[in-house]
Amino acid sequence: MFDVGKVRRDFPILDLEVNGKPLVYLDSAATSQKPRKVINTVSRYYRKYNANTHSGVYRIAEEATEAYLKSKKKVAKFINASGIEEIIYTRNTTESINLVALTWAEQNIKRGDRILISELEHHSNIVPWIMLAKKKGATLDYIALNKEKTALDDASIEEQIAKRPALVAITQCSNVLGTIVDVKRITEMAHRVGAKVLVDGAQSAPHMKVDMRYIDCDFFAFSGHKMLAPMGIGVLYGKRDILEEMPPFLGGGDMIKTVSRQEFTFNELPWKFEAGTPFVEGGVALGAAVDYLKKLRMESVREHEKALTKYALEKLSGVKGVEIFGLPARDIDRRGGVVAFDVIGVHPHDVATIFDQEGVAIRAGHHCAMPLVVDVLRKPALSRMSFYIYNNESDVDRAIEAIAAVKRKFKISDTLKLQV
Ligand SMILES: Cc1ncc(COP(=O)(O)O)c(C=O)c1O
Repeated sequence: MFDVGKVRRDFPILDLEVNGKPLVYLDSAATSQKPRKVINTVSRYYRKYNANTHSGVYRIAEEATEAYLKSKKKVAKFINASGIEEIIYTRNTTESINLVALTWAEQNIKRGDRILISELEHHSNIVPWIMLAKKKGATLDYIALNKEKTALDDASIEEQIAKRPALVAITQCSNVLGTIVDVKRITEMAHRVGAKVLVDGAQSAPHMKVDMRYIDCDFFAFSGHKMLAPMGIGVLYGKRDILEEMPPFLGGGDMIKTVSRQEFTFNELPWKFEAGTPFVEGGVALGAAVDYLKKLRMESVREHEKALTKYALEKLSGVKGVEIFGLPARDIDRRGGVVAFDVIGVHPHDVATIFDQEGVAIRAGHHCAMPLVVDVLRKPALSRMSFYIYNNESDVDRAIEAIAAVKRKFKISDTLKLQV
């Protein structure tokens, strides 16, 4: 049984007061808070076995190497990869995607090839492909949103995949609309036309069970900091046979087997892609974060977030003068714990500032998704609340009260006609 009260007690930051009010943290899509178990793991690492990995033969260096390796085993199991050879540690989702763009795509994308992404993407899954397409003379295509602007349009998926792209790079969950994409189905369709598939799992891996062998994608990228681990540790999953064929990413120590004056041979997987001293405490703490999430069970994490998001959508839809984006509450099965909204007539930065005065942390802006927010939704910015395991209904109630404070401050009456 998921006990949110018990979970909350594991997060020391939730004891904070902001502007004289208990902190309500509704910005987990940007980064998650950290439980004591993860904080203590980092602290213990520095107190008990800090040393550089791989090359040391003394006890604490062996301990550090062993702990780093063990964390990869945990991550491999967490996402059902076939082994640690398929788990490359990077800094974050952004670096994971760039790694694929600068190695696999650099080697395989040719002039005239098509790269397919979607209108839901975060800049991290747009900009590397714009850069690559320009460099290679490739074409960058977009799967369009449906006419309600809530989810990908099925006809557009079919139409774009029929153009036989060489690569499909797609998010599993939008950080703006919360829409969950059926990446398994898109992977199947893409493989049928010979494309490789990269899934951006930044907003899915922390919140639901993700299974590499079920999805069958070729690459999967996610960030530790959005799933309870420190900032600076990210993951790129890649299918072993594809990683074997790829050229290395950065050159330097650890990624090599031998070096002569003019030549080098590279190390085996996954070390081939990890040059230089790794972020050992980050990796070890990611292992602790995975342990914590596994204990909660990812199915329960998802159920908790579904219930809370449904509650938020229902509450918000009762507030006059607020426009809500994304799928409605009845489609909660296809929606993650992200709710973007607009208090009509008030700039989202003002909304977020007043929320902060009320002790409620939300994000406002284009959410690093300008093609979606500005071009498709036609908004300069949006307010966004996003949930995680430690949020409860009382947090949503505090957000609703904060909206009332915004409306009071801007003298917005409840009888104002909503123009959308
Ligand atoms: C869907 C999505 N992709 C990629 C990223 C980039 O993550 P990071 O900044 O950790 O690289 C984010 C971050 O918000 C995201 O929401």
